[in-house]
Amino acid sequence: MKKRLLVVAALMAVGVMAVPASAEGEKIGIAMPTQSLERWNRDGSYLKEQFEAAGYEAELVYSDNEVDQQVNDIQNLISDGVNMLVISAIDGEALNTVMDEAAEAGIPVIAYDRLIMHDAVSYYVSFDNYTVGTLQGQFVVDTLDLDNAGDATYNIEFTAGDPADNNAGYFFNGAFDVLKPYIDAGTLVVVSGQTDFDTVATAQWDTQTALERMQNILASYYADGTQLDVALCSNDSTALGVTQAIESDYAGSNSVLITGQDGDEANLANIVDGKQTMTVYKAVANEAVVTLDLAEAILNGDTVDESLIEASAWDFDCAYDTESYETSEGNKCPSFLLVPTVVTANNLQEALVDPGYYTMDDDGYLHPTA
Ligand code: GAL
Repeated sequence: MKKRLLVVAALMAVGVMAVPASAEGEKIGIAMPTQSLERWNRDGSYLKEQFEAAGYEAELVYSDNEVDQQVNDIQNLISDGVNMLVISAIDGEALNTVMDEAAEAGIPVIAYDRLIMHDAVSYYVSFDNYTVGTLQGQFVVDTLDLDNAGDATYNIEFTAGDPADNNAGYFFNGAFDVLKPYIDAGTLVVVSGQTDFDTVATAQWDTQTALERMQNILASYYADGTQLDVALCSNDSTALGVTQAIESDYAGSNSVLITGQDGDEANLANIVDGKQTMTVYKAVANEAVVTLDLAEAILNGDTVDESLIEASAWDFDCAYDTESYETSEGNKCPSFLLVPTVVTANNLQEALVDPGYYTMDDDGYLHPTA
């Protein structure tokens, strides 16, 4: 990054055009799932800004969580002559036709954040999705001090993400693997008995769907005053619905430990207000930086492996992983995986405000800077 900025500055100093020659005339198609989930608005604007600042033309589309529309939108990007596609899939299994078309047109594809199950994907840029889940699970273990629980028991309910999103299973499994020994030991009790991913999943990560499912669980299993201790939610949009259900329909008076992911504005406000306990934050600004440097290396024909990380001036951790993800059986997808962070009411300033991702008002509420 720094190197590129220096080159640009040097070119400007001698009166040469400020656009690096390699980016000139190159167009990047960016397809994000929806604007209705907050984080993708930030991803979209960071990606567009980063690519444009590096001299690329960037076309950004959102597809309203509609699979057919995303196929259509990507087809349009292909006919607009993009040189590279950066795609976050609505349904990782539903892009086969359009991925074939991208491959035929010789357009490299970066799967952004969510993997696409098609071998036309050249690289995957994401966070370590399984770790997101383990951070949530471990937070529950540590906060309730489950290793020293003795005879105490705690009631827990799970809310997972969209089964069409390849990430959702990783988040759920990461959390469940950490918590399972405590469930097996009887320290954690899933009163509803709902522990299977398909049963606890939330189509489209929809807040209202998560809210209604939690209302049903509360009415069926907790109406007699049974205490709910933990609502393990895979992300913030589902945590928001679960929190609303607990506020309106929970008979108990204890505060429920609620997990999340993303650092959405409303959830950070809930953390400030003590209604949500934690979120796992993913610095999507850094995810965009990795995507840009990767795209540039691919378009320049450079070798892409861990040397990209070594040559970079990234001031954050990122691993090159050739084992964890497959686009089809046996076909590993080389991946660049960033590291997620746990955010609670105690580290909002250091984790989110100091690095410049959010501003904080005098009243303590946060607002994203992008
Ligand atoms: C996932 C993503 C999460 C969350 C969720 C809902 O794929 O990794 O950060 O935002 O989608 O949009």
